[in-house]
Amino acid sequence: MSEAVHHAVAVLRAGGRVALPTETVYGLAADAANPHAVARVFALKGRPATHPLIVHIADAAALNQWAVDIPAGARRLAEAFWPGPLTLILKRQPQVLDAVTGGQDSVGLRVPAHPLALAVLAEFDGGIAAPSGNRYGRVSPTTADHVREEFGDTVDFILDGGPCRLGIESTIVSLLGEHPVLLRPGAVTPGALAEVLGRPVRMPDGTRAVVRAPGSDAAHYAPRTPAQCVESQQLAAAVAAARSEGPVALLHYSALDETLAEQLVARDMPAQAHDYARQLYAALRWADSLGVACLLIELPPADEAWLAVRDRLSRATRSV
Ligand code: TXA
Ligand code: MG
Repeated sequence: MSEAVHHAVAVLRAGGRVALPTETVYGLAADAANPHAVARVFALKGRPATHPLIVHIADAAALNQWAVDIPAGARRLAEAFWPGPLTLILKRQPQVLDAVTGGQDSVGLRVPAHPLALAVLAEFDGGIAAPSGNRYGRVSPTTADHVREEFGDTVDFILDGGPCRLGIESTIVSLLGEHPVLLRPGAVTPGALAEVLGRPVRMPDGTRAVVRAPGSDAAHYAPRTPAQCVESQQLAAAVAAARSEGPVALLHYSALDETLAEQLVARDMPAQAHDYARQLYAALRWADSLGVACLLIELPPADEAWLAVRDRLSRATRSV
């Protein structure tokens, strides 16, 4: 195994913080069994102590070390989607640190599908607590450079695994209650979960998960630039209004009218949801780098394939 992986493991064992590549986004990793290491992650992120961290484990066999009363559905989901972008919320083992779970009786668990993350987990031989490697409320990092821009040398080691393949955070599903509940949409869709579970998953408000993401209580995954989602047909009017405030940037995926293109800085985004997701956070960072007064985002279609992207856009703009 590579020197970089050995070094990452040594830093984790010593209670340090490692930026860890996963297939979704980069995580800010620490030994999930070391309260001081976990506290240092919260401190660096500026994250409220009540927000629990996901524990990354090497494989589904490690589930029993972290969770109890594991329902059959959880095991089926693990079998179907791990390693992969799915986090399961389960009843925790009593010894799981309160610092990790935010004092809750549950724990979030996932096996990431990135060769370097899996190599670190195999050698570390324990759970790795890792929130996304960004300051609280900001856009998640999808490259090692994003982590460097965010934290500089305050991270003990950055394990560079290249750009993240998926680009947005894992799907989170709670299996604590009678019905499975989708807490965060991601690359694993409600339909894919339902197929494995043999029944639909619900949204936190009790409705069936179909297309729309829940409204968010907090601005999250947000660029610094004020951002707004706009329906395709309303773009021209929105650009005219926004330009009165200053220079405008636009993320669009449908063909752009030439006269409109001359009035702003445009970034052509993929018209396919997975490709769009992979580029989304880099595009939000790009918009911030322009120093424009406003970022307009053409609203993607309202079908299930776009659920996770629309969820992140709603949190970035609080407007969907
Ligand atoms: O793709 C991902 O999930 C990335 C990579 C690094 O694995 N991680 C990530 O972590 O997005 P973070 O901390 O940025 O988001 C984790 C979310 C938080 O919103 C947290 O509230 C929720 O998971 N969570 C963790 N444990 C939970 C629990 N026991 N009950 C409810 N929500 C939980
Ligand atoms: Mg995060």
